[in-house]
Amino acid sequence: MAQILELIREDHDFIRGLFDELESNPETRDIRCITLRRELPGHMYAEEATLYARLRDVDPEGIGQSLKEHTEISEMLARFEAIPLRNDAWMPVLADLTGLVKAHFAAEEEVIFSHAEHYLSRSDLFELSEGFGLEKQKAAQFAVV
Ligand SMILES: [Fe+2]
Ligand SMILES: [Fe+2]
Repeated sequence: MAQILELIREDHDFIRGLFDELESNPETRDIRCITLRRELPGHMYAEEATLYARLRDVDPEGIGQSLKEHTEISEMLARFEAIPLRNDAWMPVLADLTGLVKAHFAAEEEVIFSHAEHYLSRSDLFELSEGFGLEKQKAAQFAVV
């Protein structure tokens, strides 16, 4: 089993790929939207329940900022989902959402990852990966499809 930061980076790469596909390939947009709706909230939920919960006390500022970004992403995702695929606003709102998510992932990989490596032991990071997988499964069960 990989440690949690590797699992998070894998999710980030997968979701970044989804956004690239959404932008460039109109044929697969329906199905990619369904995948995004499941993967993005599930990813954020699992982070909050594991890594963020563990780091909150030692890094209140970094985690507070990240939680704020999760809220902004959730709000923008809700806006995006409310727009029909063929509406003119779809592409600009996709671009806004993509920008928010990619900036958040980059900040997480730079700032939160280095704080995690500083404050947590290797065994903590491995232990957290188990919870991360379980929380994602739990979130998928409640995802509205
Ligand atoms: Fe996050
Ligand atoms: Fe993340």
